[in-house]
Amino acid sequence: MLRSPLTRRQFASTLGAGIGATLVEGPFRARRAEAALPASPAADAASGVVLLNSNENPYGPAPAALEAITKSERVAARYPDAAEEQLGEAIARLHGVSPEQVVLGCGSGEVLQMADMAFLGPGKKVVVAEPTFEAVLGYAKVTKAEPVKVPITADFRHDLPRMAAACDAGTGLVYVCNPNNPTGTIVTRDEMAFFLERVPRSVAVVVDEAYHHFVDDARYASGFEWLAKTPNLVLVRTFSKVYGMAGMRLGYAVASKENAAALRDHAAWSNANAAVLAAALASLAEPDHVSRQRTLNRETRDWLVRELERDGRRYIPSHTNFVMIDIGGDVKPVIDAFLARRIYVGRKFPSLPNWLRVSMGTRPEMQAFVDGFRAIVPAVKAARAS
Ligand SMILES: Cc1ncc(COP(=O)(O)O)c(C=O)c1O
Repeated sequence: MLRSPLTRRQFASTLGAGIGATLVEGPFRARRAEAALPASPAADAASGVVLLNSNENPYGPAPAALEAITKSERVAARYPDAAEEQLGEAIARLHGVSPEQVVLGCGSGEVLQMADMAFLGPGKKVVVAEPTFEAVLGYAKVTKAEPVKVPITADFRHDLPRMAAACDAGTGLVYVCNPNNPTGTIVTRDEMAFFLERVPRSVAVVVDEAYHHFVDDARYASGFEWLAKTPNLVLVRTFSKVYGMAGMRLGYAVASKENAAALRDHAAWSNANAAVLAAALASLAEPDHVSRQRTLNRETRDWLVRELERDGRRYIPSHTNFVMIDIGGDVKPVIDAFLARRIYVGRKFPSLPNWLRVSMGTRPEMQAFVDGFRAIVPAVKAARAS
């Protein structure tokens, strides 16, 4: 008897419990495994799955952006050249630069890929912190560049003096993730100023500000402070985090005209679709969206941290929409135990094998996480008392 072929969704659910194995192996594989996850927040709620693994925004796009997406059916038949130009101009106005300095990407992931293609190649070195967001190193494999990993400091921050010292004439690119994924820590204004002075101008300094909007600390400064006088600086932003559009795919770089042109050489034509361009324009025009999201995130993160402290757990103070928590042993079984409860938490980071990264969800989702955590890894205080 012939069996009917599995639908995509059925196939996904058969993966079920096996997903955990792939989730720990890095962002590219993790993304593939996530194809097996529910497709929308509504589906998540219905399936009981809690997604706290990819630092997304659980509240989704701004209302004006959602409306723009709905209306984009009217422009779906046409190439989005005019919308690309409009958005490029809006981003340029936002940052006080010229539109030629703005490069759009299918997510900031594509922008990071463009940077690797533009500034690396065989024999070139790429300097990164360890651990940090892995995309730049992942794409660097294709360019055959040599990775130079500089361990983070004892307080889980970029060691910028050592990273600057590692940059020489053979270096093509140095990557600074500020705030850093997965540690949630920041580089301060003074540290960045010192670093930018020391890195040779021949090296492209790529500062990834995916989590910029969540930072409240006055010691932090965006790279835009230095852009005009630092021609080798490439700043990267995304609509996936505070703007809640990870599924829509849009990011951008802002750089000198020359470096922007170098990046653009490696972009696919029309790499941003009509719906996301309209949504991004609408998001930028919505005055309260960022501050609302920032407040929601801060309130949830503060609540989570209080719960962690109540249990006597160690965590890294976070400037982002995720927190790293010390498990006190291999995090892999803990990730798996959460998975069995249909709660997806961050993957294992090889240089921080005892730490669990959890993204901020809604308050009920975080309550589910805390309840699960107390069952899986008993509170340190309680364990000490018994
Ligand atoms: C630091 C950092 N940069 C870039 C990205 C990629 O984001 P996207 O391609 O969705 O813009 C991520 C995703 O989690 C990230 O954490």
